[in-house]
Amino acid sequence: HEAEAYRTDLMTITRHVLNEQSKYPESRGDFTILLSHIVLGCKFVCTSVNKRNGFFTCTDFGKYFIQTQYLEWGIKLDSVSGYEVDKAGLAKLIGLAGETNVQASSGEEQKKLDVLSNEVFVKALVSSGRTCILVSEEDEEATFVKPSQRGRYCVVFDPLDGSSNIDCAVSIGTIFGIYMVKDNDEPTLDDVLQPGKNMLAAGYCMYGSSCTFVLSTGNGVNGFTLDPSLGEFILTHPDIKIPKKGKIYSVNEGNAKNWDEPTKNYVEKCKFPKDGSSPKSLRYIGSMVADVHRTLLYGGIFLYPADKKSPNGKLRVLYEVFPMSFLMEQAGGQAFTGKQRALDLVPKNIHERSPIFLGSYDDVEEVKVLYAAEE
Ligand code: AHG
Ligand code: MN
Ligand code: MN
Ligand code: MN
Repeated sequence: HEAEAYRTDLMTITRHVLNEQSKYPESRGDFTILLSHIVLGCKFVCTSVNKRNGFFTCTDFGKYFIQTQYLEWGIKLDSVSGYEVDKAGLAKLIGLAGETNVQASSGEEQKKLDVLSNEVFVKALVSSGRTCILVSEEDEEATFVKPSQRGRYCVVFDPLDGSSNIDCAVSIGTIFGIYMVKDNDEPTLDDVLQPGKNMLAAGYCMYGSSCTFVLSTGNGVNGFTLDPSLGEFILTHPDIKIPKKGKIYSVNEGNAKNWDEPTKNYVEKCKFPKDGSSPKSLRYIGSMVADVHRTLLYGGIFLYPADKKSPNGKLRVLYEVFPMSFLMEQAGGQAFTGKQRALDLVPKNIHERSPIFLGSYDDVEEVKVLYAAEE
């Protein structure tokens, strides 16, 4: 009987957030409306990613969903070049967009899905009528929403994280963070150049074997899994807590030649522990969302350190480092830049990068000790 009850008492993401928001009498549902548009964008990307792998895995809901959302957001099927749902219902997102990513320095080729996902999230967020500034990895400049459609929230996001893994069907994701605009005057970049500790909420959606949405609004971390037959995210991982210490380290060892001493010493310690404990396992997927999701559930540490080539590391502060650091702290872990608590960092520009060490509390503590010794 218990199973029956569970099945009918569906805790959807919207219901969960409404419950949480009901603690704030002044909330007028704006945050819930904003979040529902982020969720809509994620469902869309999930559908597209599934199609990317050659199959239209969603039900007719998916096809209908695509048609309606496209038209609502003014994205005509033919206008998103190279994206066509061919006769057999198999959609092919082919080749590269041809444009390089905004950070010419990284020079990475933008995959079609990067372009499509960015367009979908921008349109979904603007159409929510609850945002005033948007910062996306894929847009050089911030988007200032026109006054008639403006709300009080600033959203920073990485529409498609792990782009290098798109073509081999390895998990990729979307990462986002939400600030409240500082005051009701004309919004400026200062409203998004805030330390991560000022975020009201942060989360990610991982497009893998299942579509998993992990969210914190400042009261712990909760995980939801998309039920494609309902088109709803259902609470499957309530109140996630990261193990205090883990047995996994996650880093691109290919950069070892260029690491600084404290990082070299820490990774050496993981592989050749001096206290007689067993070495840690190395797990590195190359999609931050997937590496962080595993770290959150299994414990351990994820690091993208500075190196001689990139003194600020590779990951972007606003829409990669901050949201994941926020989640880690909310789950009982911590996040460190090599110099300070990651969430205390005040970014000076919207695509600023920072080294990052995040995960189980005790594991990150060991890194802090090694960097303190270096002071
Ligand atoms: P993005 O695809 O949004 O540009 O992010 C890629 C990032 C992140 O997902 C991952 O942790 C990191 O790049 C991997 O970098 P390396 O390939 O240098 O290890
Ligand atoms: Mn990314
Ligand atoms: Mn990206
Ligand atoms: Mn990128």
